[in-house]
Amino acid sequence: MKEKLLQQFIEVFGEGGEIQSYFAPGRVNLIGEHTDYNGGHVFPCALTIGTYAVARKNNDKTLRFYSTNFEQLGIITSSVDGLIKVKEDDWANYPKGVIWTLKQKGYEINQGMDVLYHGTIPNSSGLSSSASIEVLTGFILNDLFGFNIDMVQMSLFSQFAENKFIGVNCGIMDQFAIAMGKQDHAIFLDTSNLEYEYAPVKLQNAKIVIANSNKKRGLGESKYNERRSECEKALSDLQGIISIHALGELSEEEFEANKHIIADKIHAKRAKHAVYENQRTIKAVEALKANDIKEFGLLMNASHVSLRDDYEVTGIELDTLVEAAWQQTGVIGSRMTGAGFGGCTVSIVETDYVDTFIDQVGRIYEEKIGYKADFYVVDIGNGPSRI
Ligand code: GLA
Repeated sequence: MKEKLLQQFIEVFGEGGEIQSYFAPGRVNLIGEHTDYNGGHVFPCALTIGTYAVARKNNDKTLRFYSTNFEQLGIITSSVDGLIKVKEDDWANYPKGVIWTLKQKGYEINQGMDVLYHGTIPNSSGLSSSASIEVLTGFILNDLFGFNIDMVQMSLFSQFAENKFIGVNCGIMDQFAIAMGKQDHAIFLDTSNLEYEYAPVKLQNAKIVIANSNKKRGLGESKYNERRSECEKALSDLQGIISIHALGELSEEEFEANKHIIADKIHAKRAKHAVYENQRTIKAVEALKANDIKEFGLLMNASHVSLRDDYEVTGIELDTLVEAAWQQTGVIGSRMTGAGFGGCTVSIVETDYVDTFIDQVGRIYEEKIGYKADFYVVDIGNGPSRI
């Protein structure tokens, strides 16, 4: 991979300078969905698929970006000064956003770079290809400009880029999972204070299987922001009576005792999901630590039901994949992962049944939805590195 990308870099940008190669993972969230902007817990892990990059500093003030995944767009250029989001720059707005953020935060970037990106994560699938590009760009800047920014801080800068430059009001989960990934471990992160713990994912005779619905998210971003504000409204109703900072502070019992305070029934459903999903995530990590994979799987299934019925972010494509998965022999648990509204599901499947799982779920999906899903048996990988 590295040699091929180096060669391609030289074909695109020409010889010269000091050239380095890098990798940053994608991520999958095992449980804890739509909790990260409610001060709750998440449990994601980094993948061995992700984004590669080859980069060097250049001698002018121009940033040149090229992606092998969007060759038709050619080299996208931008001055290091006065960076703004423009539609034509498409995917290159992600690296631009990170450079803009670092400059906002006082880091000096007065020299351009040439960067070639190559992603092995399917785009718009909910495996965080954009956060992967962001964190990777931050890692490259650290390396080429010697900034020494630690990776937790870098995940916050990447989230800032996504919120303020791109305009998606996401939480911290994706950027954190990518920046802090650890092979064979998932990250139990408390998003209220960024305290985290690595939990070994020992699935014994089972594998993590991702199914991509191939339904692009489209409306997803506006719906995402809508769910966020519904939760904020529920919280503000509750704050009229009880003293809390976030929905993640409530136990199930506390929620049940106070839910009548939330004026709008829809907002109460959203809040219920946020509270129960946070508690499920805590229980799921305990189950995993106790080697109770069966219980972990049941909590994954309950997470999907809550995302389907209370949070309403699944849709026919994700429901078809998950409900078909639940019927298969050897399935320990299955749920949608990421923001929802399309994208991927994550399932834990006994190794001996993985092939039949892919055949059967794939067939049911195509029959009902009219186009194919893609399946990936994935491994848990490390955070960004030089390669
Ligand atoms: C997207 C966001 C994350 C998180 C998930 C839902 O991936 O980027 O911050 O909110 O959706 O859990």
